[in-house]
Amino acid sequence: MNDVEKIVIAILITIILVGTVNFFIFKKSLISFNINPGVGIPASPQAPKVVIASDLVKKQIMFSSQEVAFHNDITSCYSIINKKVYDLTYFINKHPGGKQKILDICGKDGSTLFQKQHGFNKKITDRLLPTFYVGELVQ
Ligand code: HEM
Repeated sequence: MNDVEKIVIAILITIILVGTVNFFIFKKSLISFNINPGVGIPASPQAPKVVIASDLVKKQIMFSSQEVAFHNDITSCYSIINKKVYDLTYFINKHPGGKQKILDICGKDGSTLFQKQHGFNKKITDRLLPTFYVGELVQ
Protein backbone atom coordinates (compact mmCIF):
# COMPACT_ATOMS: atom_id res chain seq x y z
CA MET A 1 0.00 0.00 0.00
CA ASN A 2 1.58 3.27 -1.08
CA ASP A 3 1.26 6.64 0.64
CA VAL A 4 -1.52 7.89 -1.66
CA GLU A 5 -3.67 4.84 -0.89
CA LYS A 6 -3.09 5.28 2.85
CA ILE A 7 -4.22 8.93 2.63
CA VAL A 8 -7.36 7.97 0.66
CA ILE A 9 -8.28 5.28 3.23
CA ALA A 10 -7.65 7.71 6.11
CA ILE A 11 -9.94 10.30 4.46
CA LEU A 12 -12.67 7.67 3.92
CA ILE A 13 -12.50 6.52 7.55
CA THR A 14 -12.71 10.16 8.72
CA ILE A 15 -15.76 10.80 6.51
CA ILE A 16 -17.53 7.68 7.88
CA LEU A 17 -16.72 8.61 11.50
CA VAL A 18 -17.85 12.25 11.12
CA GLY A 19 -20.99 11.11 9.26
CA THR A 20 -21.94 8.66 11.99
CA VAL A 21 -21.42 11.23 14.78
CA ASN A 22 -23.43 13.84 12.82
CA PHE A 23 -26.25 11.36 12.24
CA PHE A 24 -26.72 10.79 15.98
CA ILE A 25 -26.52 14.52 16.80
CA PHE A 26 -29.11 15.34 14.10
CA LYS A 27 -31.45 12.58 15.24
CA LYS A 28 -31.37 13.95 18.81
CA SER A 29 -32.19 17.49 17.64
CA LEU A 30 -35.18 16.18 15.64
CA ILE A 31 -36.70 14.92 18.87
CA SER A 32 -35.89 17.99 20.96
CA PHE A 33 -37.35 20.37 18.33
CA ASN A 34 -40.46 18.24 18.16
CA ILE A 35 -40.42 17.86 14.39
CA ASN A 36 -42.68 14.87 14.82
CA PRO A 37 -45.24 16.00 17.45
CA GLY A 38 -46.95 13.38 19.49
CA VAL A 39 -44.24 10.77 19.04
CA GLY A 40 -42.06 10.18 22.06
CA ILE A 41 -43.27 13.42 23.69
CA PRO A 42 -45.14 13.29 26.99
CA ALA A 43 -48.84 14.28 26.81
CA SER A 44 -49.60 17.93 27.54
CA PRO A 45 -51.87 18.72 30.51
CA GLN A 46 -54.62 19.74 28.01
CA ALA A 47 -54.57 16.37 26.26
CA PRO A 48 -57.90 14.53 26.61
CA LYS A 49 -57.95 12.14 29.54
CA VAL A 50 -58.43 8.44 28.99
CA VAL A 51 -62.16 7.68 28.96
CA ILE A 52 -63.12 4.66 31.02
CA ALA A 53 -65.76 2.48 29.38
CA SER A 54 -67.76 2.06 32.61
CA ASP A 55 -68.16 5.89 32.79
CA LEU A 56 -69.74 5.87 29.34
CA VAL A 57 -72.11 3.09 30.26
CA LYS A 58 -73.20 5.03 33.37
CA LYS A 59 -74.19 8.12 31.32
CA GLN A 60 -77.97 8.46 31.24
CA ILE A 61 -80.23 10.29 28.84
CA MET A 62 -82.04 13.08 30.66
CA PHE A 63 -85.57 14.26 29.84
CA SER A 64 -87.42 17.32 31.03
CA SER A 65 -91.15 16.96 31.74
CA GLN A 66 -91.75 19.24 28.72
CA GLU A 67 -89.91 16.80 26.47
CA VAL A 68 -91.92 13.89 27.83
CA ALA A 69 -95.12 15.90 27.23
CA PHE A 70 -94.46 15.80 23.45
CA HIS A 71 -94.83 12.01 23.49
CA ASN A 72 -98.47 11.96 24.45
CA ASP A 73 -100.32 9.70 22.00
CA ILE A 74 -100.44 6.31 20.33
CA THR A 75 -97.69 7.26 17.83
CA SER A 76 -95.20 7.98 20.62
CA CYS A 77 -95.99 7.46 24.28
CA TYR A 78 -93.51 8.33 27.02
CA SER A 79 -94.44 8.29 30.67
CA ILE A 80 -92.71 9.22 33.91
CA ILE A 81 -92.84 6.60 36.64
CA ASN A 82 -90.93 7.33 39.84
CA LYS A 83 -88.68 9.91 38.16
CA LYS A 84 -87.69 7.57 35.36
CA VAL A 85 -88.87 7.89 31.77
CA TYR A 86 -90.39 4.97 29.87
CA ASP A 87 -91.31 4.58 26.21
CA LEU A 88 -94.60 2.68 26.32
CA THR A 89 -95.49 3.11 22.62
CA TYR A 90 -94.95 -0.54 21.74
CA PHE A 91 -96.85 -1.67 24.85
CA ILE A 92 -100.06 0.35 24.31
CA ASN A 93 -101.79 -2.35 22.24
CA LYS A 94 -100.33 -5.15 24.36
CA HIS A 95 -101.40 -3.97 27.81
CA PRO A 96 -103.61 -6.69 29.36
CA GLY A 97 -105.55 -3.98 31.20
CA GLY A 98 -106.50 -2.28 27.92
CA LYS A 99 -104.83 0.39 25.81
CA GLN A 100 -106.75 3.29 27.30
CA LYS A 101 -105.03 2.82 30.68
CA ILE A 102 -101.65 3.36 29.03
CA LEU A 103 -102.87 6.20 26.79
CA ASP A 104 -104.03 7.95 29.97
CA ILE A 105 -100.44 8.21 31.23
CA CYS A 106 -98.74 9.12 27.91
CA GLY A 107 -96.82 12.41 28.09
CA LYS A 108 -97.28 12.74 31.85
CA ASP A 109 -96.32 11.43 35.25
CA GLY A 110 -98.01 8.04 35.60
CA SER A 111 -96.46 7.17 38.96
CA THR A 112 -99.63 7.32 41.06
CA LEU A 113 -101.83 5.36 38.64
CA PHE A 114 -99.12 2.77 38.02
CA GLN A 115 -98.31 2.46 41.71
CA LYS A 116 -101.97 1.95 42.68
CA GLN A 117 -102.52 -0.74 40.04
CA HIS A 118 -99.19 -2.56 39.90
CA GLY A 119 -96.96 -1.26 42.70
CA PHE A 120 -97.17 -4.55 44.58
CA ASN A 121 -96.41 -6.74 41.56
CA LYS A 122 -92.63 -7.35 41.47
CA LYS A 123 -92.81 -9.05 38.07
CA ILE A 124 -94.17 -5.83 36.57
CA THR A 125 -92.17 -3.26 38.55
CA ASP A 126 -88.80 -5.06 38.47
CA ARG A 127 -88.92 -7.08 35.27
CA LEU A 128 -91.40 -5.74 32.71
CA LEU A 129 -91.25 -1.99 33.39
CA PRO A 130 -87.41 -1.71 33.06
CA THR A 131 -87.64 -3.07 29.51
CA PHE A 132 -89.31 0.24 28.50
CA TYR A 133 -86.74 2.47 30.24
CA VAL A 134 -85.29 5.29 28.12
CA GLY A 135 -83.82 7.76 30.65
CA GLU A 136 -84.06 9.90 33.76
CA LEU A 137 -86.25 12.87 34.54
CA VAL A 138 -84.34 16.15 34.94
CA GLN A 139 -84.94 17.36 38.49
C1 HEM B 1 -95.77 0.91 32.32
C2 HEM B 1 -97.00 0.78 32.72
C3 HEM B 1 -97.73 -0.53 32.87
C4 HEM B 1 -97.34 -1.79 32.69
C5 HEM B 1 -95.95 -2.27 32.27
C6 HEM B 1 -98.47 -2.64 32.97
C7 HEM B 1 -98.46 -4.01 32.89
C8 HEM B 1 -99.55 -4.81 33.13
C9 HEM B 1 -99.57 -6.24 33.09
C10 HEM B 1 -98.35 -7.12 32.83
C11 HEM B 1 -100.81 -6.66 33.34
C12 HEM B 1 -101.27 -8.12 33.38
C13 HEM B 1 -101.83 -8.51 34.70
C14 HEM B 1 -100.84 -8.52 35.80
O1 HEM B 1 -99.85 -9.28 35.69
O2 HEM B 1 -101.08 -7.82 36.81
C15 HEM B 1 -101.61 -5.48 33.55
C16 HEM B 1 -102.94 -5.50 33.82
C17 HEM B 1 -103.68 -4.41 34.14
N1 HEM B 1 -103.20 -3.14 34.21
FE1 HEM B 1 -101.38 -2.52 33.76
N2 HEM B 1 -99.50 -1.87 33.31
C18 HEM B 1 -99.10 -0.57 33.28
C19 HEM B 1 -99.82 0.53 33.58
C20 HEM B 1 -101.10 0.50 34.04
C21 HEM B 1 -101.85 1.65 34.46
C22 HEM B 1 -101.30 3.08 34.53
C23 HEM B 1 -103.07 1.21 34.80
C24 HEM B 1 -104.24 2.00 35.31
C25 HEM B 1 -104.25 2.80 36.25
C26 HEM B 1 -103.12 -0.21 34.60
C27 HEM B 1 -104.19 -1.00 34.80
C28 HEM B 1 -104.26 -2.33 34.61
C29 HEM B 1 -105.44 -3.13 34.78
C30 HEM B 1 -106.79 -2.61 35.22
C31 HEM B 1 -105.09 -4.41 34.48
C32 HEM B 1 -106.00 -5.62 34.44
C33 HEM B 1 -106.29 -6.12 35.81
C34 HEM B 1 -105.15 -6.81 36.43
O3 HEM B 1 -104.81 -7.90 35.99
O4 HEM B 1 -104.57 -6.26 37.39
N3 HEM B 1 -101.89 -0.61 34.13
N4 HEM B 1 -100.82 -4.39 33.40
